[in-house]
Amino acid sequence: MNTISKESDRIAWELMILEDLKSMSYEDVATKHATSRGTVYSIAVKHGARKHEQRIQEKKKQKKLRRQEFLKQVVNATVKSDVLDYLDGLPDGSVDLWITSPPYSIGKSYEESLGQFGLMYYVGWLLQVVSEMARTLSEQGTLCLQLGNTKLPSGQPYPIDALIMEHLRSMGLNFKSRIIWTASHGLTPKERLSERYETVLVFTRGDQSVFNPNAARQPQKQPEKRAYKGKNKGQLSGHPLGAHPSNVWTDIGTVKSNSVDRKDCGNHPAPFPIKLVKRLILLYSLPGDLVGDPFCGSGSTSVGAFETGRAFTGADLLYEDLREDRLSRLAPDLITPLTGITDRSVAAWMAEAKPKNNEACVENSNLTEGEIEDLFGVVA
Ligand SMILES: C[S@@+](CC[C@H](N)C(=O)[O-])C[C@H]1O[C@@H](n2cnc3c(N)ncnc32)[C@H](O)[C@@H]1O
Repeated sequence: MNTISKESDRIAWELMILEDLKSMSYEDVATKHATSRGTVYSIAVKHGARKHEQRIQEKKKQKKLRRQEFLKQVVNATVKSDVLDYLDGLPDGSVDLWITSPPYSIGKSYEESLGQFGLMYYVGWLLQVVSEMARTLSEQGTLCLQLGNTKLPSGQPYPIDALIMEHLRSMGLNFKSRIIWTASHGLTPKERLSERYETVLVFTRGDQSVFNPNAARQPQKQPEKRAYKGKNKGQLSGHPLGAHPSNVWTDIGTVKSNSVDRKDCGNHPAPFPIKLVKRLILLYSLPGDLVGDPFCGSGSTSVGAFETGRAFTGADLLYEDLREDRLSRLAPDLITPLTGITDRSVAAWMAEAKPKNNEACVENSNLTEGEIEDLFGVVA
C-alpha cells in the first residue's frame, strides 16, 4: 500500500490521481497508484472531481428545490406519511420548534409499522428520526421530545430517554431541560410503583435559542415578600408575573375520558394535553414561527400552534380523518395564558408600582431597566 509522508509529495500524488481520473475508472486508478478505491474516491470528493460531479451537484440542487416546494405544501397542513419520508422532504433548518411524542414500541395499535425487530431496531429508528429533526431545525430552534418507557425484550419497562440521551448530545444538540409533568391517574402495576409522570426532553440546535420564561411563570408563594437587605431593601423581591418556571409541571392534567381534549382527540389512544403543547410553544417559539410534529396523531401540536399564532406542520401514518375534522374547527385563542398572575400578586404589585404608561414615572419607578423591558418591552 502506498504511504506518502511529506505534504508536498502528497499534493503531487493527489494531482496525478486527479489527472488519471479524467480517463480511467476509480478501480484502475487505485490499482495504478497502489491504493484503495475509497482513497481515490475521497481525493476526488475533496477536489470536487468526482466522476459525474456535475450530475451530482445538479441532483443536489434539484433535491433542495424539491424540498422547498414540499415545505410550501406542508405549512399549515398535516400529511398522511411515514415519518422518515416526511422529514426527508423538508429543507435543512426549516422548522423553528419540533414538539413530538414518538411511538414507544410497547404494542400500541398504531405501532404496527415498526414491526417486530426488537429494541435495537427501535432505538436505531428513533435516532434516525431525531437526527432528521435536528437537520431540519432552524439555528435558533428547539426540539421537545416527549418520552416514556419502552419495553425490554424481557418485558420489563425501560425509560427511552436513558437509552438515547447520550446519542442526542453526540449529534451536536444542546441539552436544556428535562421536564417532568405529573399525571394524576394511570395503570397500577402490582410489582412496582405506579407511573405518575411523563418526561419531555428539551434540546436546542445552538446557543441562541428562543426562551420566554414569562409564558410559564408560576404564582409566587409570597407575592408581598420584600428584600430585607442590599440596595433593593424594602422593595418587592418577586417578579410580578410570578416565579421563574421550574422543570416540574404539576398542573397539566391528563386527557380524561370526559374532558374537552378527549372530545377533540376522538379515539386517539395517546394524545397530548393541549395545555402541555401550548406551554412548550409559548416557552420556546415566537409568533409566526413554524412549529412541527412528525408524529402528529390527533393534531394537538397543530391546534396549539394555531391558537398561539404560530404556523404548523405535521405528519402521521394514521388519523387523517380525525385531524381533518379537528383542524377544520381551528380558531385563534385570544386569551394569553399567563399562569403566574394571581389576584394577590396583582394587588401587591399595584400597591407598589407607579403608572408605567408615563415615561416620567417609568424613570422614577423602582423597577430596573431590565425588569421594565421584561414586562413592557423596550421603553423609548
Ligand atoms: C404517541 S402518538 C402521538 C400523539 C400526538 N402527540 C397527539 O397529540 O395526538 C404516536 C403517533 O405516531 C404515529 N406513527 C407510528 N408510526 C409512525 C410512522 N412510521 N410514521 C409516522 N407516524 C407514525 C401513530 O399513528 C401515532 O399517532
